[in-house]
Amino acid sequence: MFDAELENIDILSEAPATEPERQYYFIAKAKKLITEKEKELGRSLTFCVNTFGCQMNARDSEKLVGILNQIGYHEVETEEADFVLYNTCTVRENANQRVYGRLGFLNNLKRKNSNMLIGLCGCMMQEPKVIEKLKKSYRFVDLIFGTHNIYKFAELIVTRLESNRMVLDIWEDTDKIVEDLPSQRKYSFKSGVNIMFGCNNFCSYCIVPYVRGRERSRSPKDIIAEIKKLVADGVIEVMLLGQNVNSYGKNLENPISFAGLLEQIENIDGLERIRFMTSHPKDLSDELIDVMGKSQKICAHLHLPLQSGSTNILKKMNRKYTKEQYLVLVDKIRKAVPNIALTTDIIVGFPGETEEDFEETLDVVRRVKYDSAFTFIYSKRTGTPAAVMEEQVSPEIIKERFDRLLKEIQDYAGKKAMELEGTVQEVLVEELDQQKEHWISGRLSNNSVVHLEGDASMLGKIIKVELSECKGFYYIGKKIDKAI
Ligand code: 5AD
Ligand code: SF4
Repeated sequence: MFDAELENIDILSEAPATEPERQYYFIAKAKKLITEKEKELGRSLTFCVNTFGCQMNARDSEKLVGILNQIGYHEVETEEADFVLYNTCTVRENANQRVYGRLGFLNNLKRKNSNMLIGLCGCMMQEPKVIEKLKKSYRFVDLIFGTHNIYKFAELIVTRLESNRMVLDIWEDTDKIVEDLPSQRKYSFKSGVNIMFGCNNFCSYCIVPYVRGRERSRSPKDIIAEIKKLVADGVIEVMLLGQNVNSYGKNLENPISFAGLLEQIENIDGLERIRFMTSHPKDLSDELIDVMGKSQKICAHLHLPLQSGSTNILKKMNRKYTKEQYLVLVDKIRKAVPNIALTTDIIVGFPGETEEDFEETLDVVRRVKYDSAFTFIYSKRTGTPAAVMEEQVSPEIIKERFDRLLKEIQDYAGKKAMELEGTVQEVLVEELDQQKEHWISGRLSNNSVVHLEGDASMLGKIIKVELSECKGFYYIGKKIDKAI
């Protein structure tokens, strides 16, 4: 919405009951309050959003930034700002500890700036014990909300500005999806697109289903309309986001498969690249493999979390596939898309994991030869079934296994990356190189990073690049012709 349109909203009348109109009313109202404050202080008000965790959070933060921009706050890089918002993650316990640590630092900043507001949102806020702790020991926090009501951000800001006390709004779950709110993209040429929210899988170690609620799919119509709008605005790559994209659409009034959705997205003119994340192996259908095999736009990369290679542990994890089924799936995918890069997530030290179980994981790693993998030390999350399982593995054993796993993964990843050295690939130029002047960075379809000489005029373009040198996890390349 444009500023002029915001000015036409009558903020003296009552707030509309329907969304998103209600939120635009509060955006207009907050804008007025912020403008008044700016006049009073004789300077502009600034904000900083700090995002922890996954791509879903990154996308949520773009929406929060979009709202803050519309309200009239100005974005800055530093946390010495008038509004600091942490969008938190709680997948592993150490993420929580980091937030508590940084809150002390924010409190010091707030003592120096009486206008400063501190906000907390995201997955960690959905945990009752976190809220108790914040209410008791972190009274200086101004605004706390969860994952289900981020669309209400403007309304919550107005409540805070008008009341002057801690505002807390956490919902246990929701079946609501609010469309058409502002959002500020980090990149002009690529964007995340939520296709579904929540998760129904209840893997026994994972807190996500408790903090993100039950699965809800957006309608294909809304998704296609959003992507068409993004493309008209210069986007050429989308990342479809969901906790388990392979079960997309099952609960819609008119059910549709994820593969069916991809086919519709493929037909959008002007869109060049399609990525998606995350795929659960148990729901990855032959239909999807077929669509991936035929597609011109779906990138040659699949993130397929293994978690463990031991069928015994997979059962305790409630993953609903066996080691053999996973390997068969990998074969099928490689047959359909021979050049595909496979990446994965692996947890080390799940309760009851024996040396034999761990060897099974190493065996899968050796057979699949992943292009890269995220490896995690099992973290006990209170409230999940695994937290009360006996036989928690000792930290020493976990550390030793973790190091062995990492070495194995790095060896294969390095060898896989070498295979493309000397070839010519299409690269989407994404950034100016952080380290070197007159250099740029981009990504191959398989998600590998390439650094090459170039300038800002190439940002957002797909160019042909010779991968002159493989540096292990990335390439040094050379542009070989004009933008295509
Ligand atoms: N401990 C360690 N890793 C976990 N993950 C999820 N929950 C836990 C946990 N309790 C990992 C899984 C998942 C990734 C996003 O985080 O590997 O795929
Ligand atoms: Fe967590 Fe499993 Fe859902 Fe992924 S699929 S978010 S690991 S419960």
